[in-house]
Amino acid sequence: MTIIIKTADEIEKMRVACKLAADVLDMIAPHVVAGVATEELDRICHEYIVDIQQAIPAPLNYRGFPKSICTSINHQICHGIPSDKKLKNGDIVNIDITVIKDGYHGDTSKMFCVGEVSPHAKRLVDVTRESLFLGIEQVKPGAHFGDIGYAIQKHAEANRYSVVREFCGHGIGKKFHEDPHVMHFGKRGEGAMMEPGMIFTIEPMLNLGKRHMKILPDGWTAVTKDRSLSAQWEHTILVTEQGYEILTLRQEEL
Ligand code: MF3
Ligand code: CO
Ligand code: CO
Repeated sequence: MTIIIKTADEIEKMRVACKLAADVLDMIAPHVVAGVATEELDRICHEYIVDIQQAIPAPLNYRGFPKSICTSINHQICHGIPSDKKLKNGDIVNIDITVIKDGYHGDTSKMFCVGEVSPHAKRLVDVTRESLFLGIEQVKPGAHFGDIGYAIQKHAEANRYSVVREFCGHGIGKKFHEDPHVMHFGKRGEGAMMEPGMIFTIEPMLNLGKRHMKILPDGWTAVTKDRSLSAQWEHTILVTEQGYEILTLRQEEL
């Protein structure tokens, strides 16, 4: 395992790509309403990324993925494929955006609540976001990647949710997925040590029921085995001398 340390020039390019990915989530927000098909959200994002941002939607044709964004609804954990299925009142949906600009990737996702969602769905969404930020707060030179997983798992399990094990955060840069694997569970002090210039995602997936998942026959969509609700949030993070910089931070999060 070799974790790439980005140069100042690469970090600047990552800042640009990550800002574009965050901007797509802001742009699509008003379109995420009951009655819209997820393939319509895909089309709007694709056109915005290609025509306005003059960037590349990284998922499209990545290992055969057929669309430009991932849309994962309710019991879908991640990698949902946009389709003619329409969002309905009470759905929770993750939209995951990855863009390539000037050769570098920016990767971020958030949950959207469609109309009025049930209190238990809202709570899962909120606790999952909290767990992402507790993970992010561990990031600084000298910390271990296990510290991130520990913080996330602790908060998830304190709220009686489970953490999906099969998918991890990842190093990111010229490649979509680089070393290291950033686990969302684990023990303090485990794993590699963080150094300034490392860039990786943290993207915890929490289930309301058991942690186990299966992949649908489409070869991509991961769903909870017990069909319980699942939520995910993702940011791309730079390790700085002081601690961290969230490269995909949105205006609403300032
Ligand atoms: N954006 C996802 C991640 O956070 C990866 C999606 S791969 C795809 O790593 F092929 F499904 F798009
Ligand atoms: Co990612
Ligand atoms: Co992503």
